[in-house]
Amino acid sequence: MIIIGGSASSNLASKVAKELGQEAGKIEIKRFPDGEKYIRIHEDVKGQDVALIQSLYRTPDEYVFEYLLIADTLRDMGAASIIGITPYLAYARQDSRFYPGEALSSAALAKLFEAAGTTSILTVDCHLHRLGDVSNVFKIPAQNLSAMTLLGKYARENLKPKKPIVVGPDEEAEQWAGTVAKELDAEHTAFTKKRIRKEGETESKLEMDTGNVELKGRDVVFADDIISTGGTIVQAARACKKKGARRIFVLCTHPVLAD
Ligand code: R5P
Repeated sequence: MIIIGGSASSNLASKVAKELGQEAGKIEIKRFPDGEKYIRIHEDVKGQDVALIQSLYRTPDEYVFEYLLIADTLRDMGAASIIGITPYLAYARQDSRFYPGEALSSAALAKLFEAAGTTSILTVDCHLHRLGDVSNVFKIPAQNLSAMTLLGKYARENLKPKKPIVVGPDEEAEQWAGTVAKELDAEHTAFTKKRIRKEGETESKLEMDTGNVELKGRDVVFADDIISTGGTIVQAARACKKKGARRIFVLCTHPVLAD
């Protein structure tokens, strides 16, 4: 298998290739003076399986289009299969039309990836609120891996929380809190979050209910998939402080940290 990284994930591609005892495939990615991308693949991929690694974080539009150019080129060059590895799958959160006329971005992205020749997809802790699993977005085989066991192990070995309770900042995060709690041999719970996004706005207001869990003197370990604006985790942490929590740690797979 040839491992190729787009410019968002060239380091990751090198590390993955090293794990497999090889070097990452050679690819040249440049920018023309007018802002367009230039792609050249310096590998003979004919008849080969290719893993194309490209996270879609920070500048999603740029990285999505670059991914499409690389995948399309690999297919033209005769790759036997193209496994798209997108640790952070951008656009996954717009998986429903909340108001008429809105783009169904997750479905559009899936169609583009498939049209460019992707034969399967691997992603990590991709949270599809309404569609459940990533396999419901793509027609090609798509699999969601999780970093939560590793994050839990990290917390156990390095953070060493006292009287820990693992908290999902919203109901959907209970699954991750549960996985981390197993690693810490701790109990877990989830808060209840309501997001209210008014028509015409891109930011939403949050309402959070911590339930009647006892936090006084305990270390709280949050587990979540994404921290984007930080709104969720800040509100959840404040609520824990109010209830007398001791230290507050946050584990998350995708620290997007927008602005
Ligand atoms: C939402 O349900 C996710 O699990 C995250 O909690 C959310 O996307 C975080 O976004 P933000 O940091 O903007 O509140």
